Parts: sequence; structure tokens; C-alpha cells
Amino acid sequence: MLTGGGDCPGLNAVMRAVVRKGERAWGDEFVGFRDGWRGVLEADTMPLGVDTFRGTLPRGGTVLGSSRTNPLKVDGGVEACRASLERLGIDALIAIGGEDTLGVAHQLAEASVRVVGVPKTIDNDLSATELTFGFTTAVQIATEAIDRLHTTAESHHRVMVVEVMGRHAGHIAVWSGIAGGATYTLIPEQPFDIDEVCAALARRHELGNYASIVVVAEGAMPVAGTIEVARDEVDAFGHVRLGGIGNTLASEIEARTGFETRVTILGHVQRGGTPTAFDRVLATRFGVAAIDAVHEGRWGQMVALQAGEIVPVPLAEAVGTLKTVDPALYDVARVFFAG
Ligand code: F6P
Repeated sequence: MLTGGGDCPGLNAVMRAVVRKGERAWGDEFVGFRDGWRGVLEADTMPLGVDTFRGTLPRGGTVLGSSRTNPLKVDGGVEACRASLERLGIDALIAIGGEDTLGVAHQLAEASVRVVGVPKTIDNDLSATELTFGFTTAVQIATEAIDRLHTTAESHHRVMVVEVMGRHAGHIAVWSGIAGGATYTLIPEQPFDIDEVCAALARRHELGNYASIVVVAEGAMPVAGTIEVARDEVDAFGHVRLGGIGNTLASEIEARTGFETRVTILGHVQRGGTPTAFDRVLATRFGVAAIDAVHEGRWGQMVALQAGEIVPVPLAEAVGTLKTVDPALYDVARVFFAG
């Protein structure tokens, strides 16, 4: 097994379930690759068994470590992964990750490596599955933060900008915005018009509501040609390092409306700590299904949640396009904008 990309509450729960079902029902033996694909490239392993995961169900992070190493960016990376798996006598690989990690898994499967995927990301932006584990935990953390910001915002008659994760998709922003009663929610899928946002805040404050909460996904972008957002550093998968739109937005709101504005960037707090009960259950169901998929020889497939059931889907389907926010859900959030 390996865990790749940004860590996510529930990773240990998946592996615990894989190992428990694998050892007890199938007589399997397991090793884990340390730090995602880096561990495969360098054949860096640790033994895994039922005992490894005792007490880890409520623990965030991953006992295996993670990284954003991309074998597709390494010369001969795919061959090196295959050679490593053969040398170690690995019969099958379970890759637990998001679009990047599973994108590599897909390429390896195309090269006849026996790999099964498990969808992980707090961003919930993987296609072919209705939910990824870790998402509801991130939403819960963001919602609790918004609840707390309401009272301080009201006391000081301020606008509070809350920046949440969500690089390409605003699932965390929309869910926590609805759950937390946000005044406005901005997402990557819909470029925002700063004039419109400020006018709405001004209207609301004129009506006597002297506090507002604006939730913004880190990947949200202003309409082209309006305000500047600096973005430069990229990782091994070519993703720009985000985090900063909240500051830009807060200073624009303050400058344009005159309302005192503060910003809270939730950042990695959303990825840390204990998974919600829902994520523990989803992760456990995914883990059990993943080891069953291995024994059914479902190479190049991923376990997914569809209509409440765990089903196998082709990895190609999962990594082909991102799952963005359903416009109908954003319309629900909109009903409460600046109200
Ligand atoms: O794993 C997804 C994610 O949490 C994104 O929401 C965020 O943009 C990114 O990871 C942050 O990555 P890093 O941990 O490398 O800063």
C-alpha cells in the first residue's frame, strides 16, 4: 500500500480495514511504501499488519507518511516502480490518493502493473465517486471555525474573510458556507466580481447587519482584469502553491467598503486531526472493498461511492476530469448571499 499527495483524515482507517480483511479473510501479507511514490521508486518499505493499526482509527495523518513525488516526472520512473515491485515480490499495489497519485496509478495500470486505487482528498474533487473520505472532516472543521468567527465579527461589526482549501473546486467552501451561514461564498468554478461582492456587503450593512462572513476557496479567482492575485511556486505535479486570495480579498473589501475586515486562513488545520465518524466509516468501507477488488483482479480500477454503495470504477474515469461543485448546490448557497 501507499498513501500519496496531501494527507487526509481517514488514511489510517482505510489501511486498517485493508489489512484486517486481507489478513483474516484472505491470508495476505502487507508492506507499506513510505512517503507515497517516493517509497516505490526507492523501494523504501515498512511491514504492515493488524498490530500496526491498533489505535489508529481516530488518528489523522498516515502512519506511512506521504509526499508529492511524481514518478512520471522522473526519467524511467514507471519502469523503476515496476522493477521495485517485482524485486520486492509484491503481487498487488493499493494506491490511496487523489487525482495526482491515482493518475500515476492509472499510468502504471496501463503498463500492466497490478494496482487498485482508493479515492482520498479533503477537496472532494475526484470524479466517479460521490464523496472522498476526509471531506466531511474538513467541512466540519471549517464550519466550526465559521461558527466561532460569527461571534467575534458581530462584536466588532467586522467583515471576516475565511479562506478554506479547494484548489480547483469549491466543495469545502460551499458546504461549510451553507453550514456556517456565510454571507458570501466564492469558489474556483465561478470567477467573482469584487464590485458585486462589495455592493452586496454594503447593502447588507446598510440594512443594519453590521457583520459579515465571506468564505473563499483558496483557488477562487476574480473576474479577469479586475484585481491581481500573485501565484508562482509549483509542485512536482505542476500545481501552483495557493493560499493568499483571502488576504487580497480582505484588503480589497476594506478599501472599497470602508468596513473593517479581518482574514482567517484555515490552511492545513482542515487536514489535521481526527476523522469524523462518517469519514471513518467511509474509509473503512473503501478499505474492505479495495482488498476485495485485489482478490477479484480488478486492476486499473478504483473503489467509489455511488448511490450509497461502494462500487469499482475504472481509474481512467476517476482521473479524467475533476468533479466540480454542482451549480444547483451553489444556487442553494446563493439564496443566503448578503441576506
Ligand atoms: O490535498 C489537497 C490540498 O489540501 C489542497 O486543498 C491544497 O491546495 C493542497 O493540498 C495543499 O498542499 P500542501 O500540503 O502541499 O501545501
